[in-house]
Amino acid sequence: MQKVLVTGGCGYIGSHTIVDLINHGFEVVSVDSNVRSSTQLLEGIEKITGKKIHNYKVDLCNLEDTHAVFHENRDIVGVIHFAALKTVPESVSDPLYYFQNNLTSLINVLKCVKEFNVPNLVFSSSCSVYGNTTALPVVESTPLGEAQSPYARTKQMGEQIIEDYARVNSTNNIVLRYFNPVGAHPSALIGELPLGRPDNLVPVITQTAIGKLPKVTVFGTDYHTRDGSCVRDYIHVMDIANAHTKALQYLLDGKNESNREIINLGTGNGVTVLEAIKAFEKVSGVKLNYELGPRRPGDVIEIYANNSYARERLGWEPKQGIEDMMRTAWQWEVSLRDRVLNN
Ligand code: NAD
Ligand code: WQD
Repeated sequence: MQKVLVTGGCGYIGSHTIVDLINHGFEVVSVDSNVRSSTQLLEGIEKITGKKIHNYKVDLCNLEDTHAVFHENRDIVGVIHFAALKTVPESVSDPLYYFQNNLTSLINVLKCVKEFNVPNLVFSSSCSVYGNTTALPVVESTPLGEAQSPYARTKQMGEQIIEDYARVNSTNNIVLRYFNPVGAHPSALIGELPLGRPDNLVPVITQTAIGKLPKVTVFGTDYHTRDGSCVRDYIHVMDIANAHTKALQYLLDGKNESNREIINLGTGNGVTVLEAIKAFEKVSGVKLNYELGPRRPGDVIEIYANNSYARERLGWEPKQGIEDMMRTAWQWEVSLRDRVLNN
């Protein structure tokens, strides 16, 4: 069985990817300091797959501890590097924390990948590297725009670090630029666990519907879009997860043309905030308490991907639509409430 090291395996996208990797016959070890998570999702993974995942509770900013993990796992065929801080407003108020954490951890992972000759690395990037682009849909060669936050800048800089590293090292790297990952595993045993008050639309919707938040404010209804609200390319987290397995397999099969590739992960469909709310109401049967509000500073008006490259190269295709995303996000929120009620 081929072994993969997943950093950030206790987090939202990492946990779903571990399930997909296991379903495709990989063995997985995780490294996560739990700075933004707990081991709760690992229990969910075990229930879904029957496999207990070992997590090294290590801060990847600590080189010695990171080195020890790689030393103990010399047989890995690749690293999928999810670990990072990702809260945009927090990165604005504490930029140094974001640069320190997201870049030091990446550099330490690359140092170990190099030293232990790990052949393959997959890196989590974000559509936020495109900034406020007007060239739609976004292709991988679309020029990067001005980063709208220090968080987005850590992704731009992370990509540059990998680019320069790949020029002089043979490690195969794939940078995956995710659009807006949402939804949860259909079992409702794993999902997104926002710490504190969420900023992202889908957890705000589900937490409002369940009664944790009083209402959803639609940020802006006077944009030049079909209904005046912003457009995003929401993509189901299980489709994102499967793209990681496919990206790793692609590298293992030697199908990559260069040792550094960049791939967009979106559905290719733009969905407005109001359409997302309608889809939620339809699949949940809940009438959502929402109000139309002012624009949120810094918001990109409209962004969605061209995903042809992911389809062609990885043989990947997103299988789930906005209603599947909303249904599974809602089932997860309900399961969280039921767990609290049953305890
Ligand atoms: P998450 O917060 O759920 O998971 C990230 C995990 O990394 C957490 O469990 C956290 O404890 C861990 N971590 C952070 N810093 C660490 C460190 N120094 N050492 C060890 N562990 C550390 O986030 P997620 O949504 O699963 O995101 C995963 C990756 O995808 C991140 O790199 C994020 O920037 C990127 N991304 C996320 C989105 C999104 O909307 N969720 C969109 C685009 C890109
Ligand atoms: C989506 C839409 C809001 C909340 C952020 C990061 C980005 C990426 C994904 C990691 C927007 C609207 C939201 C609310 C609303 N993360 N909205 N009311 O802004 O596309 O991207 O997460 O890489 O870097 O910036 O996602 O979910 O916050 O917002 O109307 O209460 O929902 O205005 O149009 P965003 P989001």
